[in-house]
Amino acid sequence: MKVYSKISALQEHIAYLKSEGKTIGFVPTMGALHYGHISLVSSAISQCDITVVSIFVNPTQFNNVDDLSNYPRTLEADINLLSEINCDIVFAPDVEEMYPEKSVTIDLDLGNLADVMEGKFRPGHFSGVVNIVSRLFECVKPDKAFFGLKDFQQVSVIRYMTNYFHLPIEIIACPTLREASGLAMSSRNTRLSASQKEDALIISKSLILAKELASKNTPDSVKNKITDFFQKGNLVLEYFEIVNPVTLESLEGDWVSGATACIVAYCGEVRLIDNMELI
Ligand code: PAF
Repeated sequence: MKVYSKISALQEHIAYLKSEGKTIGFVPTMGALHYGHISLVSSAISQCDITVVSIFVNPTQFNNVDDLSNYPRTLEADINLLSEINCDIVFAPDVEEMYPEKSVTIDLDLGNLADVMEGKFRPGHFSGVVNIVSRLFECVKPDKAFFGLKDFQQVSVIRYMTNYFHLPIEIIACPTLREASGLAMSSRNTRLSASQKEDALIISKSLILAKELASKNTPDSVKNKITDFFQKGNLVLEYFEIVNPVTLESLEGDWVSGATACIVAYCGEVRLIDNMELI
Protein backbone atom coordinates (compact mmCIF):
# COMPACT_ATOMS: atom_id res chain seq x y z
CA MET A 1 0.00 0.00 0.00
CA LYS A 2 1.29 3.45 -0.91
CA VAL A 3 0.85 6.38 1.47
CA TYR A 4 1.00 9.92 0.10
CA SER A 5 0.85 13.25 1.86
CA LYS A 6 1.57 15.43 -1.18
CA ILE A 7 -0.96 16.08 -3.93
CA SER A 8 1.62 16.15 -6.76
CA ALA A 9 3.02 12.69 -5.90
CA LEU A 10 -0.47 11.23 -5.55
CA GLN A 11 -1.61 12.74 -8.86
CA GLU A 12 1.47 11.42 -10.66
CA HIS A 13 0.78 7.89 -9.43
CA ILE A 14 -2.95 8.10 -10.25
CA ALA A 15 -2.17 9.40 -13.76
CA TYR A 16 0.08 6.37 -14.28
CA LEU A 17 -2.63 3.97 -13.04
CA LYS A 18 -5.23 5.60 -15.30
CA SER A 19 -2.87 5.34 -18.29
CA GLU A 20 -2.83 1.58 -17.55
CA GLY A 21 -6.63 1.57 -17.81
CA LYS A 22 -7.26 1.06 -14.08
CA THR A 23 -10.53 2.25 -12.53
CA ILE A 24 -10.24 4.25 -9.32
CA GLY A 25 -12.56 3.90 -6.31
CA PHE A 26 -12.34 6.60 -3.67
CA VAL A 27 -13.38 6.63 -0.01
CA PRO A 28 -12.93 10.05 1.60
CA THR A 29 -12.67 9.87 5.41
CA MET A 30 -11.61 11.91 8.40
CA GLY A 31 -9.87 8.88 9.91
CA ALA A 32 -10.56 7.15 13.25
CA LEU A 33 -11.69 4.31 11.04
CA HIS A 34 -14.33 1.83 12.15
CA TYR A 35 -16.22 -1.01 10.47
CA GLY A 36 -18.51 1.48 8.73
CA HIS A 37 -15.48 2.85 6.87
CA ILE A 38 -14.14 -0.64 6.26
CA SER A 39 -17.40 -1.60 4.57
CA LEU A 40 -17.05 1.43 2.26
CA VAL A 41 -13.48 0.38 1.46
CA SER A 42 -14.64 -3.20 0.80
CA SER A 43 -17.29 -1.92 -1.61
CA ALA A 44 -14.64 0.16 -3.42
CA ILE A 45 -12.27 -2.83 -3.59
CA SER A 46 -15.00 -5.05 -5.01
CA GLN A 47 -16.10 -2.51 -7.66
CA CYS A 48 -12.84 -0.85 -8.77
CA ASP A 49 -9.29 -1.86 -9.72
CA ILE A 50 -7.63 0.56 -7.33
CA THR A 51 -8.95 1.87 -4.01
CA VAL A 52 -7.82 5.21 -2.62
CA VAL A 53 -8.73 6.27 0.93
CA SER A 54 -8.13 9.83 2.09
CA ILE A 55 -7.64 10.65 5.75
CA PHE A 56 -8.03 14.31 6.47
CA VAL A 57 -9.79 16.02 9.38
CA ASN A 58 -11.21 18.94 7.43
CA PRO A 59 -11.23 22.06 9.61
CA THR A 60 -13.58 24.04 7.35
CA GLN A 61 -16.55 21.74 7.97
CA PHE A 62 -16.44 22.11 11.77
CA ASN A 63 -18.51 24.99 13.06
CA ASN A 64 -17.48 24.21 16.65
CA VAL A 65 -13.80 24.53 17.62
CA ASP A 66 -14.10 22.02 20.48
CA ASP A 67 -15.59 19.43 18.15
CA LEU A 68 -12.63 19.93 15.81
CA SER A 69 -10.00 19.71 18.53
CA ASN A 70 -11.69 16.69 20.15
CA TYR A 71 -12.12 14.83 16.87
CA PRO A 72 -10.24 11.50 17.28
CA ARG A 73 -6.99 11.29 15.31
CA THR A 74 -5.52 7.80 14.92
CA LEU A 75 -3.51 8.04 11.70
CA GLU A 76 -1.02 5.26 12.38
CA ALA A 77 -3.68 2.74 13.42
CA ASP A 78 -5.81 3.77 10.42
CA ILE A 79 -2.94 3.20 7.99
CA ASN A 80 -2.19 -0.21 9.52
CA LEU A 81 -5.83 -1.22 9.28
CA LEU A 82 -6.09 -0.12 5.64
CA SER A 83 -2.98 -2.01 4.71
CA GLU A 84 -4.39 -5.19 6.33
CA ILE A 85 -7.56 -4.99 4.23
CA ASN A 86 -5.69 -4.49 0.94
CA CYS A 87 -6.39 -0.84 0.30
CA ASP A 88 -4.04 0.35 -2.47
CA ILE A 89 -3.42 4.00 -1.69
CA VAL A 90 -3.81 6.23 1.35
CA PHE A 91 -3.79 9.99 0.92
CA ALA A 92 -3.15 11.78 4.21
CA PRO A 93 -2.33 15.43 3.52
CA ASP A 94 -1.91 18.18 6.11
CA VAL A 95 -4.01 21.34 6.27
CA GLU A 96 -1.48 23.46 4.35
CA GLU A 97 -1.47 20.95 1.51
CA MET A 98 -5.26 21.02 1.12
CA TYR A 99 -5.68 24.73 1.82
CA PRO A 100 -2.66 26.57 0.45
CA GLU A 101 -2.69 30.33 0.92
CA LYS A 102 -3.95 31.16 -2.54
CA SER A 103 -6.60 28.49 -2.86
CA VAL A 104 -9.95 29.41 -4.38
CA THR A 105 -13.08 28.70 -2.38
CA ILE A 106 -16.14 27.32 -4.18
CA ASP A 107 -19.35 29.13 -3.29
CA LEU A 108 -22.03 26.73 -4.49
CA ASP A 109 -25.65 27.61 -3.78
CA LEU A 110 -27.09 24.39 -2.37
CA GLY A 111 -30.56 25.88 -1.84
CA ASN A 112 -32.81 23.94 0.53
CA LEU A 113 -30.25 21.12 0.83
CA ALA A 114 -28.06 23.37 2.96
CA ASP A 115 -30.80 25.28 4.79
CA VAL A 116 -32.32 22.39 6.74
CA MET A 117 -31.13 20.00 9.47
CA GLU A 118 -27.29 19.91 9.44
CA GLY A 119 -27.24 23.10 7.37
CA LYS A 120 -29.44 24.88 9.89
CA PHE A 121 -27.62 23.69 13.01
CA ARG A 122 -24.08 23.72 11.60
CA PRO A 123 -23.80 26.92 9.56
CA GLY A 124 -21.04 26.66 6.96
CA HIS A 125 -20.70 22.89 7.41
CA PHE A 126 -21.74 21.94 3.88
CA SER A 127 -19.72 24.69 2.31
CA GLY A 128 -16.71 23.08 4.04
CA VAL A 129 -17.75 19.62 2.86
CA VAL A 130 -18.28 20.78 -0.75
CA ASN A 131 -14.91 22.51 -0.79
CA ILE A 132 -12.89 19.63 0.62
CA VAL A 133 -14.67 16.91 -1.37
CA SER A 134 -14.27 18.80 -4.64
CA ARG A 135 -10.56 19.31 -3.89
CA LEU A 136 -10.15 15.63 -3.03
CA PHE A 137 -12.01 14.65 -6.22
CA GLU A 138 -9.62 16.88 -8.16
CA CYS A 139 -6.61 15.14 -6.54
CA VAL A 140 -7.87 11.56 -6.89
CA LYS A 141 -9.99 11.82 -10.07
CA PRO A 142 -12.02 8.74 -9.08
CA ASP A 143 -14.45 6.85 -11.27
CA LYS A 144 -16.57 6.01 -8.24
CA ALA A 145 -16.73 7.62 -4.79
CA PHE A 146 -18.22 5.86 -1.77
CA PHE A 147 -20.10 7.63 1.03
CA GLY A 148 -21.93 6.30 4.08
CA LEU A 149 -25.67 6.88 4.30
CA LYS A 150 -25.30 7.69 8.00
CA ASP A 151 -24.56 11.19 6.74
CA PHE A 152 -27.75 11.16 4.69
CA GLN A 153 -27.82 14.88 3.95
CA GLN A 154 -24.14 14.87 3.02
CA VAL A 155 -24.85 12.26 0.33
CA SER A 156 -27.56 14.54 -1.15
CA VAL A 157 -25.17 17.50 -1.12
CA ILE A 158 -22.34 15.52 -2.76
CA ARG A 159 -24.70 14.21 -5.45
CA TYR A 160 -25.91 17.75 -6.11
CA MET A 161 -22.35 19.08 -6.35
CA THR A 162 -21.25 16.26 -8.64
CA ASN A 163 -24.21 16.87 -10.99
CA TYR A 164 -23.81 20.64 -10.85
CA PHE A 165 -20.15 20.51 -11.95
CA HIS A 166 -20.82 17.60 -14.36
CA LEU A 167 -18.11 15.56 -12.67
CA PRO A 168 -17.68 12.12 -14.29
CA ILE A 169 -17.86 10.40 -10.90
CA GLU A 170 -20.45 7.87 -9.79
CA ILE A 171 -21.53 8.51 -6.22
CA ILE A 172 -22.24 5.27 -4.37
CA ALA A 173 -24.23 5.53 -1.14
CA CYS A 174 -23.58 2.63 1.25
CA PRO A 175 -25.84 1.53 4.14
CA THR A 176 -25.14 2.53 7.73
CA LEU A 177 -23.36 -0.11 9.78
CA ARG A 178 -24.59 -0.64 13.34
CA GLU A 179 -23.20 -2.21 16.45
CA ALA A 180 -25.13 -5.28 17.68
CA SER A 181 -26.91 -2.90 20.09
CA GLY A 182 -28.29 -0.83 17.20
CA LEU A 183 -25.96 2.14 17.72
CA ALA A 184 -24.84 3.54 14.35
CA MET A 185 -21.08 3.18 13.95
CA SER A 186 -19.27 6.50 14.14
CA SER A 187 -15.79 7.77 14.85
CA ARG A 188 -17.36 9.89 17.59
CA ASN A 189 -18.48 6.73 19.46
CA THR A 190 -14.91 6.39 20.77
CA ARG A 191 -15.67 9.43 22.93
CA LEU A 192 -18.63 7.73 24.64
CA SER A 193 -18.36 5.91 27.99
CA ALA A 194 -20.04 2.49 28.37
CA SER A 195 -23.05 4.06 30.09
CA GLN A 196 -23.29 6.80 27.45
CA LYS A 197 -23.32 4.10 24.78
CA GLU A 198 -26.34 2.60 26.57
CA ASP A 199 -28.02 6.01 26.76
CA ALA A 200 -27.31 6.63 23.08
CA LEU A 201 -29.49 3.64 22.11
CA ILE A 202 -32.51 5.92 22.43
CA ILE A 203 -31.51 7.21 18.99
CA SER A 204 -31.85 3.91 17.14
CA LYS A 205 -34.88 2.98 19.29
CA SER A 206 -36.57 6.22 18.24
CA LEU A 207 -35.93 5.48 14.59
CA ILE A 208 -37.26 1.93 14.89
CA LEU A 209 -40.35 3.21 16.72
CA ALA A 210 -40.84 5.88 14.03
CA LYS A 211 -40.79 3.15 11.38
CA GLU A 212 -43.42 1.17 13.31
CA LEU A 213 -45.62 4.24 13.74
CA ALA A 214 -45.30 5.34 10.11
CA SER A 215 -47.93 2.93 8.75
CA LYS A 216 -50.73 4.34 10.98
CA ASN A 217 -49.78 7.99 11.53
CA THR A 218 -49.02 11.12 9.53
CA PRO A 219 -45.39 12.31 9.46
CA ASP A 220 -46.33 15.19 11.77
CA SER A 221 -47.87 12.87 14.32
CA VAL A 222 -44.88 10.49 14.19
CA LYS A 223 -42.60 13.47 14.76
CA ASN A 224 -44.58 14.56 17.85
CA LYS A 225 -44.70 11.04 19.28
CA ILE A 226 -40.95 10.52 18.82
CA THR A 227 -40.12 13.90 20.31
CA ASP A 228 -42.13 12.90 23.43
CA PHE A 229 -40.56 9.43 23.52
CA PHE A 230 -37.07 10.93 23.28
CA GLN A 231 -37.61 12.97 26.42
CA LYS A 232 -37.68 9.74 28.45
CA GLY A 233 -33.95 9.28 27.77
CA ASN A 234 -30.84 11.15 28.87
CA LEU A 235 -29.85 12.70 25.56
CA VAL A 236 -30.58 16.21 24.37
CA LEU A 237 -32.44 16.23 21.06
CA GLU A 238 -31.20 18.74 18.50
CA TYR A 239 -33.65 17.77 15.79
CA PHE A 240 -35.89 14.97 14.60
CA GLU A 241 -37.17 15.47 11.07
CA ILE A 242 -39.03 13.32 8.57
CA VAL A 243 -38.00 14.41 5.10
CA ASN A 244 -38.51 13.84 1.42
CA PRO A 245 -35.40 11.82 0.46
CA VAL A 246 -34.70 13.92 -2.65
CA THR A 247 -35.56 17.51 -1.69
CA LEU A 248 -35.03 17.05 2.09
CA GLU A 249 -38.20 19.07 2.64
CA SER A 250 -39.91 18.27 5.90
CA LEU A 251 -43.02 16.09 5.52
CA GLU A 252 -46.16 16.98 7.43
CA GLY A 253 -49.49 15.48 6.33
CA ASP A 254 -48.56 13.01 3.60
CA TRP A 255 -45.95 10.32 3.13
CA VAL A 256 -43.73 9.97 0.09
CA SER A 257 -41.84 6.89 -0.92
CA GLY A 258 -38.41 6.77 0.72
CA ALA A 259 -39.45 9.20 3.49
CA THR A 260 -36.53 9.27 5.90
CA ALA A 261 -36.33 10.14 9.57
CA CYS A 262 -33.19 12.08 10.47
CA ILE A 263 -32.09 12.63 14.02
CA VAL A 264 -29.29 14.42 15.87
CA ALA A 265 -28.82 14.40 19.62
CA TYR A 266 -26.15 15.23 22.14
CA CYS A 267 -24.91 12.51 24.44
CA GLY A 268 -22.96 14.62 26.93
CA GLU A 269 -20.65 16.66 24.71
CA VAL A 270 -20.81 14.22 21.81
CA ARG A 271 -23.05 15.03 18.87
CA LEU A 272 -24.55 11.88 17.34
CA ILE A 273 -26.35 11.62 14.00
CA ASP A 274 -28.49 8.84 12.55
CA ASN A 275 -31.37 8.24 10.12
CA MET A 276 -33.69 5.55 8.84
CA GLU A 277 -35.92 5.14 5.81
CA LEU A 278 -39.47 4.81 7.14
CA ILE A 279 -41.64 4.03 4.11
O1 PAF B 1 -18.03 12.11 5.97
C1 PAF B 1 -16.89 12.52 6.27
O2 PAF B 1 -16.14 11.85 6.97
C2 PAF B 1 -16.46 13.88 5.77
O3 PAF B 1 -17.51 14.78 5.75
C3 PAF B 1 -15.76 13.83 4.41
C4 PAF B 1 -16.70 13.34 3.32
C5 PAF B 1 -14.55 12.91 4.50
C6 PAF B 1 -15.27 15.22 4.02
O4 PAF B 1 -14.36 15.73 4.93
